[in-house]
Formats: sequence, C-alpha cells, structure tokens
Amino acid sequence: KIRRTTVPQIANRKGGEPIVSLTSYHAHTAAIVDKYADFILVGDSLGMVMHGMDSTLGVSLDLMITHGKAVVRGTQKALIVVDMPFGSYEESPQIAFRNAARIMQETGCGAVKLEGGSRMADTIRFLTERGIPVMAHIGLTPQSSHTMGGFKTQGRDEDSWPLFEADAAAVTAAGAFAVVLEGMVEPLATRITKQIAIPTIGIGASAECDGQILVLEDMLGLNEWTPKFVKVYGNLGPAIEQAVSDYATEVKSRAFPGPDQVYK
Ligand code: KIV
Ligand code: NA
Repeated sequence: KIRRTTVPQIANRKGGEPIVSLTSYHAHTAAIVDKYADFILVGDSLGMVMHGMDSTLGVSLDLMITHGKAVVRGTQKALIVVDMPFGSYEESPQIAFRNAARIMQETGCGAVKLEGGSRMADTIRFLTERGIPVMAHIGLTPQSSHTMGGFKTQGRDEDSWPLFEADAAAVTAAGAFAVVLEGMVEPLATRITKQIAIPTIGIGASAECDGQILVLEDMLGLNEWTPKFVKVYGNLGPAIEQAVSDYATEVKSRAFPGPDQVYK
C-alpha cells in the first residue's frame, strides 16, 4: 500500500528540495498530478475555474467537500489540502473548527488551508491544537479582494513589508505547517522565507520560496487569460477545441461512428 505524504514530511522540507504542488478539483486530473506533486490543493479557485463564478466568494462548504472527496478518491500518494471557503472560518475559532472537521471527516483530506495572517492566528492555533493541520495563506488573499481593492501584487511599497512579515511570523507561531505566499514581490518573499521556520509555497512569489503551486488549468492553458506569474506548460485549450471540431465534422458527414465503433 502506498503511503500518503504526511504533514510533518511537508513541514520538514523547509530549506530543502523545493516542494511541488498543483491544484486539482476532480479525480481524473488529480490521479495524474498525484504522480508528481508532494501535495495537491483543492483550492476554492474551483469556483471560477470549474463553475464559472467571477470570484471565490460564492464557493460553499458543500462544493469544497464535493470536490475534495473526488480528489481524495482519485489519489494515493500526495497530501490533500482542501481550502476553507469564504464565510466558513472567519467568524470564530469554534465555527472554523466545526467546518474544518466536516471537511476532514467527509473528504478524508489531510489538512485545510485558510486565508489570513495575524488576524487568523487564534483560529490556526485552535485548529492545530485539536488535530487539524492548517496551511496558511498570506499576501494576495483573493477572499478579501473587496477590502484590498482588487487583485494587486503585494509588497510593492517597502513600508508594507513589516505587516506581511508579522503575518508570516504569526501563522508560524500559531502552528501552521506551511504558508502560501501569493502575489508578492520577490524581495518580500525572500525575506519571509528566510525569517520563518515553516515552508513557504509561492504562487506569483518567485523561486525563492520553499515550494511552488499553480492552478492546474492555468498551467495547462485552459483559461482564456493567465496572469504574468503563470507559465503555460501545455496548451490544452487548442487541443481540446481541435478534437471537438473534428468530432462535429465527422458526425455531420457520418464518418463517425465508423466500422470500428459499430456493433455488427
Ligand atoms: O484556490 C487556489 O487555487 C489557491 C491557490 C492559488 C494557492 O488558493
Ligand atoms: Na484558494
């Protein structure tokens, strides 16, 4: 039996070989990612990527659990981390615990992720002390895009650095086993990575981080637009379109189904 990567194994990678991670939302792609990723994130970006929402704010706990279950079923090896959606954890540590416990019980995942630094420290401590490993997420935090005034790269102004450094220190002290640094300038990501004892997982935060994560559909070229920090490793959009258009042509010309696809 294959053993899944554990939370301590991820935490112990601090300063070592970079941690490989991608998002996955369903069993089929997760099975492929599972061969190469140390952990797989079932991110709330699924609201936009899979369900056509225009932000992550409308993603429900039930939707996260539905996709989390699919990804756990489709994988054997990677640690599965499931995002806590907006509204499911901010109110109190107790409510966060109840909802995180549901995610873990119903999906079988190994950890949850939530957004916020210093302000979420009490909640991170409450969860980790009670058996729920937490990955933190600071810098650009999409669930608070309305208060941030959009999706902006963080740390452009050096005066803001102490706040982000305090966030990183707070989530570390609270017991987070790793922290996602999203959308921040390289010198800030470098400073934070050097300052804290837990791995930093970068997305739009430079190669100085202890690991990297990307949204799978972004790096596969399945989204119409991708931000600067995304590298498109496979351009699947045009490949899918070609296949669909060939099928449509062959249905109309009755070339499909052909002799090989027919029960005689
Ligand atoms: O929801 C998501 O995909 C994420 C990653 C981009 C870190 O939170
Ligand atoms: Na997310």
